[in-house]
Amino acid sequence: MLDIAQKVHDESRQGEAFAPFALDTNRYRRHFYIESYGCQMNFSDSEIVASILNGEGFGATRNLEEADLIFLNTCSIREKAEQTVRKRLTEFKKLKKGNPALLVGVLGCMAERLKAKFLEEEKLVDIVVGPDAYRALPQLIDEADGGQKAINVLLSREETYADISPVRLNSNGITAFVSIMRGCNNMCSFCVVPFTRGRERSRNADSILAECRDLYAQGYKEITLLGQNVDSYYFIPDADGQPVTFARLLELVALVAPDLRVRFSTSHPKDITDDVLATMARYENICRYIHLPLQSGSTRVLGLMNRNYSREWYKAKVDRIREYMPDCGISSDIIAGFCTETEEDHQDTLDLMRFAQYDMSYMFFYSERPGTLAQRRYQDDVPEAVKKRRLQEIVELQNKLSFDSNLRDIGKTFKVLIEGDSKRSELDWMGRNSQNKVIVFPKEGYNLKPGDYVHVQVDSSTQATLLGKIVANA
Ligand code: 5AD
Ligand code: SF4
Repeated sequence: MLDIAQKVHDESRQGEAFAPFALDTNRYRRHFYIESYGCQMNFSDSEIVASILNGEGFGATRNLEEADLIFLNTCSIREKAEQTVRKRLTEFKKLKKGNPALLVGVLGCMAERLKAKFLEEEKLVDIVVGPDAYRALPQLIDEADGGQKAINVLLSREETYADISPVRLNSNGITAFVSIMRGCNNMCSFCVVPFTRGRERSRNADSILAECRDLYAQGYKEITLLGQNVDSYYFIPDADGQPVTFARLLELVALVAPDLRVRFSTSHPKDITDDVLATMARYENICRYIHLPLQSGSTRVLGLMNRNYSREWYKAKVDRIREYMPDCGISSDIIAGFCTETEEDHQDTLDLMRFAQYDMSYMFFYSERPGTLAQRRYQDDVPEAVKKRRLQEIVELQNKLSFDSNLRDIGKTFKVLIEGDSKRSELDWMGRNSQNKVIVFPKEGYNLKPGDYVHVQVDSSTQATLLGKIVANA
């Protein structure tokens, strides 16, 4: 119960401070500390920022007190994420009093919208950099050192940071994220992303493959390809090569090595193709797991959300996925209480959740975002108490669906990639199966290490985790 409920209330993941290596004062002149908020895309962007800063002689530190530069990589997707960042900036203001040379920067999605407020009115930050301007960071730091307010929030139609090898921050050395595209063209009416991250562009396929090969050579065993809408990935190589679609890219990454697992996120129900499903089914190392955000189960509300599919279309997609891969895990994003949502619309959402039998969902109540289509066109007219009650019903149903999904796994044997010790005990391993479920199991006398695959039979489960034991001769 708790795990899923927490995902709702703590929807913008708490910021995490990253330190990929120990503080090395000889190697680096100055040190930066970076916290990331929001989606995985932001965490990956922080890895690009770290790489750019390393190249300029800045080393990462986990310790706030040792930092000459503090960065917050921010998210605007929901109001709560913004409030958290504002609170954190106020805390840094105190640190600045004790150390006037300390620079504080805001990166990412909040940069564009709140630049004036942060820089001028509230005097909370020295540097403001949007998601397409990270290459300008070294120059902006120089300007800020000289006492100027440094800002670059220009969005680009081309920037993909294709040539930058991200520094892996907070990595377990086994699983990594690779960004394959930036921005979004979908214009879902509730969503601020097209405004904060700009137009969609696909990264050069060769540079994606080079990054994946490099990760594999370093011992990584699982790669998640990241984009706001991966199914619209499309890249045309220069020398009259064949266009690379998402299905082709998936295949190319799967071919890097048979023991390198491939995942991807996020899929849009209107865009995921049979080609993608067939490719997934063809390669054992492409994981049987699709994050397929529903948002609402009501065709009328989906229309207002500008999602470009109906509930019937969505149901047909779920059926199609299960035709190709009967064992495929499916998860969702769901918004409760979007503009004009009636009780009947809400029941449609619950009904579709039961149909899809989601293994997991991220659930939110609608919060109006400035500048979005919904904010300009519709009234945010569902009372907060109603939104929260509907969200609670969605959460309770999802808890039941997750529990049922785990019950169905009892007795089954899964191939598990070991990621490390379980949180609770060094005597247990923690890993994931292809369907992205966490499995915890005793190490027993086996000589295994993180990055190894092992067959595990599930014997019980908690709300969010499967428990099992190693099957010797699988
Ligand atoms: N209010 C609530 N949830 C939102 N999301 C995006 N914008 C909003 C909003 N304004 C959710 C969607 C999306 C996920 C990343 O965040 O469900 O898929
Ligand atoms: Fe936002 Fe829709 Fe694009 Fe996702 S697909 S980032 S919800 S506009």
